[in-house]
Amino acid sequence: MVNIILLGPPGAGKGTQAKRLVETRGMVQLSTGDMLREAKTSGTEMGRRVAEVMDRGELVTDEIVIGLIEEKLEQGAPGGFIFDGFPRTLKQADALGALLARRGQGLGAVIEMQVDDAALVARITGRFTCGACGEVYHDQTRPTKVEGTCDSCGSHDLKRRADDNADALKTRLMEYYKKTSPLIGYYYAKGNLSSVDGLAEMDSVAAAIAKILDKA
Ligand code: AP5
Repeated sequence: MVNIILLGPPGAGKGTQAKRLVETRGMVQLSTGDMLREAKTSGTEMGRRVAEVMDRGELVTDEIVIGLIEEKLEQGAPGGFIFDGFPRTLKQADALGALLARRGQGLGAVIEMQVDDAALVARITGRFTCGACGEVYHDQTRPTKVEGTCDSCGSHDLKRRADDNADALKTRLMEYYKKTSPLIGYYYAKGNLSSVDGLAEMDSVAAAIAKILDKA
């Protein structure tokens, strides 16, 4: 059993690779972005406030996301957790360390997905996802086999995210460089940082991650 973090800017491919690991290794994906998008649709006051922050591309408060993760950790994951989009601040990283330690667990690997900003714009603006099963697609690099139909579950509910536009992406990138990128040094100092080339083909990225996990 190994817990890992996939770390990288918006569009680096964290969600795409996390879904593969769920399929190939029976791990459990904990995406705070997905959890918050679910909260957005809940119709609650908290959901409304979360929606405003997310649609602008800013980070939601540490307290909210740490609370969400704490709840999910209770459910356990015999194959290990994949933290996708969490932690995003030093406070979240400290909280995760403490939550895992309380359960007698730790992190097997923190995998930084390296990409450049120019590629991210193309990735984000071409992305769409299945509203039913969450499968991630791209207009150019990963279109559905049949237009308008999810390859995975057959649903026609294909959507684009409200924050996948040029303005919100600018803010998301600034938030990443200001608040999340310091985690690269943080985990390097702890001795569990590895890096993969996130610009490579999806299968090559998956193979590089598998290599790291086999050694973890
Ligand atoms: P979140 O949902 O986590 O979004 P993100 O970090 O911006 O990451 P993305 O989901 O955009 O990208 P990804 O790396 O998963 O890329 P993907 O695999 O889809 O967060 C959204 C918002 O929620 C935040 O802005 C914030 O407001 C809030 N939030 C979430 N967590 C929070 C936290 N911890 N604290 C505070 N606030 C939080 O790939 C992108 C596209 O590229 C896809 O179309 C895919 O098909 C394609 N692609 C992927 N890999 C490749 C490849 N190798 N080659 C070619 N194309 C590829």
